[in-house]
Amino acid sequence: MGARFIGWGTAVPDRIVTNDELSLTLPTSDEWIVERTGIHERRIGGTVTSLGVEAGNKALLDAGVEAKDIDFLVLATSAADRITPATSAMIAHQMGLSCPAMDVNAACSGFMYAVRTAQGLLETGNKRVLVIGSEHLSAFVDWSDRNMAVILADGAGAAVLEYDPTENDIISFVLGTEGGDSELLTCEHGGYFWMDGKEIFRRAVRAVVDSSEKAMALAGITSAELSLVIPHQANIRIIQAACQRLNIEMDRAVVVIDRYGNTSSASIPLAFADARDNDRVHKGDYALLTGFGAGMTWASAIVKWSK
Ligand code: UT7
Repeated sequence: MGARFIGWGTAVPDRIVTNDELSLTLPTSDEWIVERTGIHERRIGGTVTSLGVEAGNKALLDAGVEAKDIDFLVLATSAADRITPATSAMIAHQMGLSCPAMDVNAACSGFMYAVRTAQGLLETGNKRVLVIGSEHLSAFVDWSDRNMAVILADGAGAAVLEYDPTENDIISFVLGTEGGDSELLTCEHGGYFWMDGKEIFRRAVRAVVDSSEKAMALAGITSAELSLVIPHQANIRIIQAACQRLNIEMDRAVVVIDRYGNTSSASIPLAFADARDNDRVHKGDYALLTGFGAGMTWASAIVKWSK
């Protein structure tokens, strides 16, 4: 018995903001941003609700199910449209869902935490859970702070998970939180995102490598057996450093940070969608999904696609 991914969807705002455009108002350059982060451009706009609704509806269509078929909505976001009600309630309403809905916030690990939550919901009697990662991070960016402005962006991704009595896509899961590191990346009420980028970078590589090794050990596989790595997209150099330590060549890693920047809990589903569009997702293949973020939080899972 288990949880299967049966449909995916994404949404990004139309507005593209290039590095050159940011360089007009910030002391930065296309050359610096590309070299230090791998980002060429990002999408800015929408709301957590609007992007989440679009991605969610596409995921339902892709799964071949309707709103009435969804038993639970779990929204991962670190930039909720309001403090209350939960943004998931507004998304559920606009999608025509009549099921329970709730937000989870585990920062950039949020999508993975939401998938883990969905897995538990499926094991306790729900048939289908819609998981959405949606972010409107630009609402909390100080556009005079080059440290954050060049990195953060908006977008959404969604997946429908279905209970299956015979098949299981999620082979192992490793999650963690170290709240002692909460000051490293923070956004106060009424304020803006702030981070100690260097320290986050170091800890992120360590968290990804450790949790990925544990997830592989639990699944009983080695990195040589992975067809794909679908990592959180925070910095191309974090992905490169982690892959190198895990003995995974970069051609097995999915990279979309060049086009979308860091979209926090939307980045893993955006990367998955890109991999599938490029025919990189095949039935029976093992993939490592791995994320990290403010908290600090981290989450790695080994997935074996059954579809
Ligand atoms: O989503 C999860 C959470 N976030 C992350 O994972 C982010 C992790 N951290 C990072 O991605 C990187 O630390 C950054 C991209 C934020 C910064 O890159 P870095 O290589 O750590 O740069 P740095 O802070 O060491 O700065 C290097 C130089 C400095 O100049 P000097 O002192 O060498 O003259 C900075 O002042 O680059 C300068 N700098 C910039 N220059 C142009 C810092 N930010 C910028 C910028 N444009 N945006």
